[in-house]
Amino acid sequence: MDPHRPIYHFLPVATWMNDPNGLIQWKGQYHLFYQYNPNGAYWGTMHWGHATSPDLVHWTDLPIALAPTPGSPDEDGVFSGCAVDHDGTPTFIYTGVRGEEQLPCIATSADDLLTWQKHPDNPVIAAPPALHEELDTVMFRDHAAWRENDAWYQVIGSGIRDVGGAALLYRSPDLLHWEYVGPLCVGDSRRMEPLWTGTMWECPDFFPLGDRHVLVVSVRDEENLLYAASLVGSYSDHKFTPETLNYVDSPGSFYAPQTFLDDRGRRIMLGWLREGRSVDAQKASTLAGVLSLPRVLSLSPEGTLLMEPVHELETLRRDHRSYEDLEIASAGVDALPGVEGDCLEIVAQIEPRDARRVGMRLFRSPDGEEETLVIYDHRNGTLTVDPSRSGLSPEIHRDAQSLPLQLGDGELLRLRIFLDRSIVEVFANEHACITARVYPTRPDSRGIALFAEGSTARAGRLDLWRMASIWEI
Ligand code: FRU
Repeated sequence: MDPHRPIYHFLPVATWMNDPNGLIQWKGQYHLFYQYNPNGAYWGTMHWGHATSPDLVHWTDLPIALAPTPGSPDEDGVFSGCAVDHDGTPTFIYTGVRGEEQLPCIATSADDLLTWQKHPDNPVIAAPPALHEELDTVMFRDHAAWRENDAWYQVIGSGIRDVGGAALLYRSPDLLHWEYVGPLCVGDSRRMEPLWTGTMWECPDFFPLGDRHVLVVSVRDEENLLYAASLVGSYSDHKFTPETLNYVDSPGSFYAPQTFLDDRGRRIMLGWLREGRSVDAQKASTLAGVLSLPRVLSLSPEGTLLMEPVHELETLRRDHRSYEDLEIASAGVDALPGVEGDCLEIVAQIEPRDARRVGMRLFRSPDGEEETLVIYDHRNGTLTVDPSRSGLSPEIHRDAQSLPLQLGDGELLRLRIFLDRSIVEVFANEHACITARVYPTRPDSRGIALFAEGSTARAGRLDLWRMASIWEI
């Protein structure tokens, strides 16, 4: 068994997965579809894998839901898309790939989402909006759809040459005949602040949240997948006006998230966690790609996206240990005696006091040769995950990832950290999420320690649990 294989984040039995697709709750079961290459641990020949869950925690893998059909508009791949309930008929909108063409296609299921029939009229949109619409699109794929008054709407990911990423809006009476409404939102590839929104937007998602609307896009340029960004704003007359723009999670691993609404009214997001190691290392391990924990979304008073893991994950907690009032010395390493593990949930409340930097050392070998740092820098107002010494292999990525996190006067640093073999998923004060992949080499890289720099700090409370596996093994 691969020592880096996560045990409580979803992934297929083997080979490659990327984006979550078609998230939907159907007759009480959660259904997850995902970009899947059954042929190996590398991207290629995309299918839709399928899994179901009663609780968003335990998943059952099911047979492939969609595969390319030779001689059809998806003969070279079944790319990302969404699922909707069309008056009782489960319906996918996905991107069919044939040669250079990537076009919207429809499939429906008559047996509660197990098998899928592709529509004979696919593709249901014959081409991207043309130049006469003053749009020179450089990409046209990925779908999010919703019902509004008496029509269906969908956004499709795109980019406009020399302008920026774009989410294009369409309307339909029946999911088969689509009329182009116009751009829902267009980025500006010349602007870099507060973050660069790239030249293309993949995997758009658009939904109401609180008294606002949220557009989530996965930002890329010609060569690189960069990060997921959230735009929060107002929606009227089929135009979206963003008011805030932020990272959903740090650049690096988390990408192509999708959301859905469950029967408790929760807006839940899952993202794809990319590998942080070379393609050769992925192929050698026989698996590549895993999903983030499911996150419930809400809005801050400032109109930014807040995220917290679904409460159902608490059923995986085992062997609780808790500490109160820990003094964190400003030098050396305060290892927590007897506490170790590579599949843990850690909840910490840290009072930085006058320390310049405070945080935790994770996946730490007893001599400190290997460790991954979570660092809150009081002066710069940043949260960082630093994997530069996380493993000894030359095949791993080592870039540190930082996001802004400014604590108010007297505000505690509230960390919720999930370790799962090769995943570090950090939620800080609900505001900042940083997810990283790490691949410790040494079997004894299991220690946990607190640290402070510049002055002593204090952990008012620290709770740890071992996390159980979600698979029957
Ligand atoms: C995002 C993405 C999508 C596309 C899919 C193909 O990761 O590139 O734009 O539909 O992956 O696997």
